[in-house]
Amino acid sequence: MSTQRTLSELERRAEEGGGEERRRKQHAAGKLTARERMELFYDPGTFEEVDKLVTHRCRDFGMGDQLVPGDGVVAGHGQVDGRQVYAFAQDFTVFGGSLSETNAAKIVKIMDLAMKMGAPVVGLNDSGGARIQEGVVSLGGYADIFLRNTLASGVVPQISAIMGPCAGGAVYSPAITDFTIMVQNTSYMFVTGPDVVKTVTHEEVTKEELGGAMTHNVKSGVAHFAVADDRECLALIRELLGYMPGNNLDEPPRRDTGDPWDRQDAALDSLVPPLPNQPYDMRDLIHAVADNGEFLEVQRHYAENILIGFARLGGRSVGIVANQPAHLAGTLDINASVKGARFVRFCDAFNIPLVTFEDVPGFLPGTQQEYGGIIRHGAKLLFAFAEATVPKVTVITRKAYGGAYCVMSSKHIRTDLNFAWPTAEIAVMGPEGAVNILYKRELDTAKDPVALRAAKVAEFREKFANPFVAASRGYLDEVVQPRTTRPRLIAALEGLETKRDKNPPKKHGNIPL
Ligand code: HXC
Repeated sequence: MSTQRTLSELERRAEEGGGEERRRKQHAAGKLTARERMELFYDPGTFEEVDKLVTHRCRDFGMGDQLVPGDGVVAGHGQVDGRQVYAFAQDFTVFGGSLSETNAAKIVKIMDLAMKMGAPVVGLNDSGGARIQEGVVSLGGYADIFLRNTLASGVVPQISAIMGPCAGGAVYSPAITDFTIMVQNTSYMFVTGPDVVKTVTHEEVTKEELGGAMTHNVKSGVAHFAVADDRECLALIRELLGYMPGNNLDEPPRRDTGDPWDRQDAALDSLVPPLPNQPYDMRDLIHAVADNGEFLEVQRHYAENILIGFARLGGRSVGIVANQPAHLAGTLDINASVKGARFVRFCDAFNIPLVTFEDVPGFLPGTQQEYGGIIRHGAKLLFAFAEATVPKVTVITRKAYGGAYCVMSSKHIRTDLNFAWPTAEIAVMGPEGAVNILYKRELDTAKDPVALRAAKVAEFREKFANPFVAASRGYLDEVVQPRTTRPRLIAALEGLETKRDKNPPKKHGNIPL
């Protein structure tokens, strides 16, 4: 056979993957094939494949007769909105997308190239795990990938899509990457599957309940997004990448969003309700100030008392962290602290300015929180905000009480510009709690404790439940009218454009994990 014919034949076989019948099964399961996914993911016609002709080296169990060029993973690079991105897609039609020695080497090659070029890495996972026929060389392949994931963390953005099975130790690659997206009904992640769970703990649980998309989006917080299908998944990865630089030495892309920088929104003047314990939706504020109202919310279903996500302000990418008074009164608990901290660190690693909207009555009290280690976990958020050197701007809309005042990107932990609305209340605790402690004896002996309490609460509120003490100290840079929040933020970020700050030289800090 001529070389040309051999090449054409090998390429045809690589493109066939596991063959017609297995591709049909893949489609019947509601999934696209690895190649279809890559084609959809990249800008049309830009995907350049690498290692298309690689085959596995296993000769046991009759494997020598089953050589599929490409060996169950499609890998390469291409463009996303004109920017270079490296990606691999596991091909479930070839040995269930399982990870062989050579298949791992292909993924490692892509990751090494991405690191050298300073480009993001995207993994489309759909695999039965370690290739059983290959034994320890497959396990070694996983560890080689985990090492790359770790070394690449904070250097290039890494995004994992779970588009089929992801089980056993294989879950740890996505877990190290920055964002994990799960496709509903067709993907699952677990360390051990339902059968092992039943044997060990006698629990009966389905795959979906144990590790489906909503389990990891709502309960465990392992995943950051849930999407309806493969197409939505690939579109979301593209959108997400649009907020990020290619690497830690680049700036995030700027876009002309067409939204005037000086747009004001009068509705914000009445966003905070008249009664201090009344909830409101902090998303209304985010949508009102963001360019074209767009907010790509991350971990929307998890720890809903804190909101995190990406937006643009005057065309600049920003990471938004906001307390959510509409859920648990916006208190900080273990899950919210961890969710916020990881996001802050991502933004800081990739030069994405942080905008914090604050309305927080404190840390959530209770034995569950204390026994769960709220001290340690809450400290993560504090640590993350304090070590962040990107431009930081905070707006206090209402409550900023106690330790949570310090934690939520306060002036004291190097936030560049701190604004408050006139409705801000900055105090060690809320007026009711403060009066109970300060006037305990008087209240116990008063003839009319209700009237005394009301008078003292009013006095305390008058003195502390406002932004002016903090402003007089310079802990707030300015008290701003709510309607002007967008122009103030955009002007602030403009002024911080050239910010240079750094942490003391060290190997790395010791964040309270
Ligand atoms: C080799 C595998 C495979 C694997 C699946 N296949 N998993 N081949 N190694 N790990 C093959 C099957 O033989 C089959 O081949 C094809 O892929 C599709 O698999 P099916 O079972 O027919 O598909 P389905 O019914 O959809 O079930 C998918 C599955 C199941 C749930 C993933 O295949 C499964 O349980 N696989 C084993 C999972 C596992 O235990 N992996 C090891 C986990 S431990 P044919 O030729 O029939 O199409 C691990 C450790 C990682 O991964 C450690 C990192 C540190």
